[in-house]
Amino acid sequence: MSITVAQGERVFSLHTNNTTYQFRADAYGILQHLYYGPLVTNTNFTYLWQPRERGFSGNPADAGTNRRISFDTMPLEFPCHGCGDYREPCLEVRNSDGSNSVDLRYVGYEITDGKPKLPGLPAVFADSDQAQTLQITLEDSITHIRAIVQYSALPSSDVITRSVRIENAGTSSVTLERVLSCCLDFMQPDSRDIISFYGRYAGERTMERTPLHHGQSRIESTRGASSLHFNPALILCDRTTTETSGSAYALLFVYSGSFIAQAGVDQIDQTRIVMGIHPQDFAWELQPGDFFQAPEVILTYSATGFETLTHNLHRLINQHLIRGKYASQRRPIPLNSWEAAYFEYDDEKLLSIAKGAVDLGAELFVLDDGWFGSRNDDTSSLGDWHVNTDKIRCGLPVFCEKINALGLKFGIWIEPEMISRNSDLYRLHPDWMLAIPGRAPISSRWQFVLDMSRQDVVEYLFDTFSSLLSSCNIEYVKWDMNRNIGDIWSQQLPDKRQGEVLHRYMLGVYDLLQRLTSKFPDVLLETCSGGGGRFDAGMLYYSPQIWCSDNTDPIDRVTIQYGTSFLYPFSCIIAHVSASPNHQTGRTVSMEARGAVAMTGSFGYSLDPSRLSTQEKEQIGKQIVDYKENWELYSHGTLYRLLPNPANRSEAAWMLVSPDRCKASLTYLLKSPIANSPVKYLKLRGLDPEKVYFVKPGNLILSGAALMHAGLPIPELRGDYPVVQFILTRHLNPGE
Ligand code: GLA
Repeated sequence: MSITVAQGERVFSLHTNNTTYQFRADAYGILQHLYYGPLVTNTNFTYLWQPRERGFSGNPADAGTNRRISFDTMPLEFPCHGCGDYREPCLEVRNSDGSNSVDLRYVGYEITDGKPKLPGLPAVFADSDQAQTLQITLEDSITHIRAIVQYSALPSSDVITRSVRIENAGTSSVTLERVLSCCLDFMQPDSRDIISFYGRYAGERTMERTPLHHGQSRIESTRGASSLHFNPALILCDRTTTETSGSAYALLFVYSGSFIAQAGVDQIDQTRIVMGIHPQDFAWELQPGDFFQAPEVILTYSATGFETLTHNLHRLINQHLIRGKYASQRRPIPLNSWEAAYFEYDDEKLLSIAKGAVDLGAELFVLDDGWFGSRNDDTSSLGDWHVNTDKIRCGLPVFCEKINALGLKFGIWIEPEMISRNSDLYRLHPDWMLAIPGRAPISSRWQFVLDMSRQDVVEYLFDTFSSLLSSCNIEYVKWDMNRNIGDIWSQQLPDKRQGEVLHRYMLGVYDLLQRLTSKFPDVLLETCSGGGGRFDAGMLYYSPQIWCSDNTDPIDRVTIQYGTSFLYPFSCIIAHVSASPNHQTGRTVSMEARGAVAMTGSFGYSLDPSRLSTQEKEQIGKQIVDYKENWELYSHGTLYRLLPNPANRSEAAWMLVSPDRCKASLTYLLKSPIANSPVKYLKLRGLDPEKVYFVKPGNLILSGAALMHAGLPIPELRGDYPVVQFILTRHLNPGE
């Protein structure tokens, strides 16, 4: 049993293999957080709570003369606004009388095996023998607003998931002004750091660690997408936590829209973290009998540094979030047309690129932007998802056959959520675009956003893309989203419900994704948003891989992939070898370095083969052989980051180790070699100390213990951005 209930059925413990999470409903029915940390069984943590009278922290009426009971000072599971807690709440309402109080108290609980789906939303999945779920019902005795706080424990992943459903069991409507999915309170006043992943276009998910302070540290997106600018994730750790030691908690939001994640220290040095849908541009009218389901937050804890935290998240995402055959199968090696031709192509040019791709050893040809409507640049045609026969003169089915005849799979780029003003779709349905009556909408990259909150729009897109995918043998789709949302106003919702548009937009996107992936389960779906602008756990439920960044420069990519790797496994990080000089930075980098950085990811190419030198072509041939042989290690191996953030240093090193620890890869990249430098030794991790390994290049035969404790000397590296990639295989003596 991973979930236990003790002491008059009001102390709830969720155990995973290495962690325990505990809370209780106290004598007043307040849901009070008690503990989250290393596994501790048979313990009631109520003793930790030391109630004191605190000035200016009011007391609920039913506490009578007990001035030590205050929502304002107690560690809580689901804090509400308007009942005396002045800290960051999860729930804020506007009652029908205009008041804003909501005071939720314990009603009961239910424990079930497995993990239920969340209606309309992506969520972690688990069988009945892999998880248990606890639902706590809280209710306001005046308005009868209920919160069903949902917890699932996945013991072997060391993960707890949280979400909440708000129900209106009363007789008047209520407006939800904020519903956050999770609150994590810490009563111990330890000094802590917060780690977040900030970014921008072509520079996503840079890891940043800052000390937590009195007041709030907040990351957010109000853009209608999880965004390039902050990833929807937070890590909280001790000041002394390192890669391999110390306490660390991760919160990962399973949602792709606007979000808020906030951590703050209060007047008595308690820490609170909250995470959920951003309250800005959010208001949800809940009629009697209705419910609102908030998205899920993944929680995990490590007592042994960031490495274990990362391993927990990677395992969970690979085994309990990514679905379909490509969760475990090798994905075809693509060559994507974007950096090869941009908008400048016709079918002849594409076929010659595709022939070049075959010669290199690629397995999939991806026709990126520019194939539809009359799209010759980014000013038109989004919405007109029929082939441009001026460019693809033979039509799409015949073109696809030609690609297949070359021995390549065929894949295509789409941007379903968008509309160009210059499109037949706009001329037919101007009302389908998000726009505020009387205001000229904000354009971005010349494009506008479809109102995905409308059922008819989703229905139309489902029919359109069903026909496209049925029209020929399309085996891969890249689903892009190249702007953020503005002009949040839907023609189909009454004025007072316009606060629902952004979340309803996400529900529409998820509905379309769910229906298309169910109808075409064998199509490999890659999602994208101008690079990694919607790189989140919500999208991973539908697409096993996400385009990591439009920046394919390997030297910038090591920093982007380093940050991304804290949260997401390499199996879902798409990384391509592109041309040199690089199109984003103009930097010249060797084919070896480009390959090494792209290889530890979901690997492919974005370049024009006809512009490659003979030597580069030979190197690519070898990369493809290497990737095919070692893909399982590169995309599913256990990750060890051997050096800190490459953003702040001149070198990067990481390892991937197979589950049986018989095989490992090690990549070391030097951004700026120094003359007559000291020898660099890397102490490896994750190997079996007892096993003996054959190390190539160098042909050394060394024990795991030697490699981990004494280290491996890195050969002298010279030139621009030199790299060395080692493969370690278990060495067996004759007869072993
Ligand atoms: C976005 C993507 C690119 C490419 C272009 C096409 O920027 O990230 O990879 O598909 O759109 O317009």
